[in-house]
Amino acid sequence: MCGIVGFTGKAAPEATEKCREILLSGLENLEYRGYDSAGIAMAGEGEGITICRAVGRISNLRKAVAGCQPQGSCGIGHTRWATHGRPTVENCHPHEDEKHSVAVVHNGIIENYQHLKEELQRSGVEFNSQTDTEVIAQLLAHHYSGNMKDTLQKVLPLLEGSFALGVLDKNQPDCIYCARRRSPLLVAQGKDGSYLASDVSALLAYTKDVTYLEENGIAVLTPDSIRFYNENGSEIHPESTHITWDATAARKNGFEHYMLKEIFDQPTALRDTLNHYVDVELGCIRREAMPFTPEQAKALRRVTIAACGTAYHASVMGQSLLEQLAGIPALAAIASEYRYSNMPPVEGEVFIAVSQSGETADTLAALSYKKAQGLRTIALSNVLGSTIAREADAVMYTLAGPEIAVASTKAYLTQVLLFAILALDLAHLRGVIDDAKLKEGIAALAKLPEQVEEILAKQSVVQDFVQQQKDCRDIFFIGRLMDYASSLEAALKLKEVSYLHSEAYAAGELKHGTIALVDESCLVVVFATQTVVLEKTLANMEEVRARGAKLLLLGHFPEGAPEDCSLWNIGKTSDQLAPLLTTVYAQLFAYYMAKLHGCDIDKPRNLAKSVTVE
Ligand code: G6P
Repeated sequence: MCGIVGFTGKAAPEATEKCREILLSGLENLEYRGYDSAGIAMAGEGEGITICRAVGRISNLRKAVAGCQPQGSCGIGHTRWATHGRPTVENCHPHEDEKHSVAVVHNGIIENYQHLKEELQRSGVEFNSQTDTEVIAQLLAHHYSGNMKDTLQKVLPLLEGSFALGVLDKNQPDCIYCARRRSPLLVAQGKDGSYLASDVSALLAYTKDVTYLEENGIAVLTPDSIRFYNENGSEIHPESTHITWDATAARKNGFEHYMLKEIFDQPTALRDTLNHYVDVELGCIRREAMPFTPEQAKALRRVTIAACGTAYHASVMGQSLLEQLAGIPALAAIASEYRYSNMPPVEGEVFIAVSQSGETADTLAALSYKKAQGLRTIALSNVLGSTIAREADAVMYTLAGPEIAVASTKAYLTQVLLFAILALDLAHLRGVIDDAKLKEGIAALAKLPEQVEEILAKQSVVQDFVQQQKDCRDIFFIGRLMDYASSLEAALKLKEVSYLHSEAYAAGELKHGTIALVDESCLVVVFATQTVVLEKTLANMEEVRARGAKLLLLGHFPEGAPEDCSLWNIGKTSDQLAPLLTTVYAQLFAYYMAKLHGCDIDKPRNLAKSVTVE
């Protein structure tokens, strides 16, 4: 989600200038990864460590660096996409310990940081930020043995979660230490020094031969050498990789478009979001991360949700999840309509605004309207410190990372996941489900990332199918209950990126008019994951088959598809979670249809990522 860069250069007259420029231009190349704040730390013989940070874009950091003039030929830098703590200077990376002896940049999330922080605070350590990263700097200083590699080996096992780290040690000012777990990190040896980065795009200007650190590996960079160590501390000699991408392809991680990259980001986005709210191993919800106390949960009588576009479709899913799992009356509304609805507040009602960007004008207006009615408000957003997140009384963040493509994909899946977590939590707090059922629910959520990976591994099935749809101009998506919500999102995704005519219908509603449009030229995509109405949905499929439509069925059908019907199977899961999996197929379908028609996938005509006008 964030970006890391590092460089330690050989002694030369212009070494400081060179190091600063490599760090700043490296961060500019990584700005697409996160852009709410940034910073660098530089070290030099007799100079100690100087840290320079700024809120906003790298251009602000450039001005700050020109002012504070950090010295040295060795440094680390970071561009941030905030997850813990608002985007302020105090929360910017690099973070240091209280004695200024260690500086750290970090990508990833330390899940047990609160516990580690409290332990350090009990032994007198003072903290300056709200971040999980500062815990790493303080821990390294606290356990420092005089040798940073040994110290890292002692400290890393204490950390739960994911990390890619760059570390400066005041006592070795020409050295960068780095380590990783479940977050990428790569290094490269150039003729003027050694480089470190979280993404290859930061290094392509200097070298195309890079070495990826192995899982739980450590590397030590000096200007002339890079040494690699495995988890047990034994030296290893990994092979380097020659990169053939250009800088733009590198930013997309080799994917042709951000949309496809973001579809493939989804397993990680789901894992990060889940781990933030849930202790999967213990099978319980992290109380401190949730917006309801047990008393508030019990007093809840109704949830109203408002949002726009894809976030509205996630809200429709949320409505079903709250009703089905927790038995709470819920209503999802289109924000631009709802804000003028004159809906009187109900005793015990809570309002939820859902917005990836946290800046959508109509969603913000709906939030203000409900606040003015005196309701408690909650935001679901992907952007820390966004307006909607700030305005609401409580906030739940999706940890999807920056979403660049206009068509929303990973934000949607993580928004629905948040609703599922919220619904399980409320059901448990209100006594609708017991501990065992909660554990069962969490175990099903924990399987989702892998199930999404399984679908992504079958993308060629989608590609092949799309190739046969060259002449298809009208596409109907049908389903019942939560499958109807999936149909809405599938039709929107397809319209947004391929400009094809597509419509979503509640399957039972077709025969009340729309079926008049169905003939041999149409493709009808049937979502069939809801057990209670499965037979009825399949009967609706037969009705359109009888009118000559081509058919595509999505669901869990291990025994195979009915005759003359293409089938995309999902793994076995609950009725409530199955729509998340069929949606991944729908996203791939929209993407490949758009590609087939040569559309500008990441920036579709007439659309904007963040709509701040009403
Ligand atoms: C725009 C985007 C959509 C998005 C909607 C709501 O229309 O193109 O992809 O779903 O805004 O955005 P939000 O940031 O509030 O989720």
